[in-house]
Amino acid sequence: MNNDIEKVLYTHEQVNHRLDELASELTAKYHDQQPVIVSVMTGALVFTGEMIERLNFKLTLDYVDVSSYADGTQSGKVQLIQDLSTDIKDRPVIIMEDIVDTGHTLKFLKDLLKGRSAKSIEICALLDKPDRREADVEGDYIGFEVPNEFIVGYGLDYSGLYRNLPFVGVLKRSVYEN
Ligand code: PRP
Repeated sequence: MNNDIEKVLYTHEQVNHRLDELASELTAKYHDQQPVIVSVMTGALVFTGEMIERLNFKLTLDYVDVSSYADGTQSGKVQLIQDLSTDIKDRPVIIMEDIVDTGHTLKFLKDLLKGRSAKSIEICALLDKPDRREADVEGDYIGFEVPNEFIVGYGLDYSGLYRNLPFVGVLKRSVYEN
């Protein structure tokens, strides 16, 4: 698996250190708020797991599953596959994502959850790829910026693989251009 990686962008140690920093920021703001953590499957699974064990206060963990598709006229349409099981009315919500890419997924989710009268909604993402942004949405807590390359690891996949790499890396072109 590691032979398919062109280069490591952020090592396990660098990610761990950054997650500690993000967790400190979230703790300062949310320690007495009992937020709902909304993990966006499947990519955010690893990041969410790593983050919540650093958040030493009361919170509710939930998840959604969404998928993007093109409908022939418009790209970036997002569909809800699995909804929350938590009532978020008047609760602070933190959406956990692995990456903000075009932003369509997070724009869709933020709008959806706003419609349910959450007390507040913030976005915490491990990675941000600003060069690809199309939708008007930004992360509130970001681990790292990444270049416009094929990124895998820490939950991010290519064709369902590489999510379990314990670092953030760039996939070799030869892997996805075959
Ligand atoms: C990826 C990623 C984000 C989304 C970001 O999910 O996990 O949810 O794309 O892209 P966007 O900003 O362009 O909307 P994907 O649909 O690949 O599913 P996955 O989480 O199962 O990998």
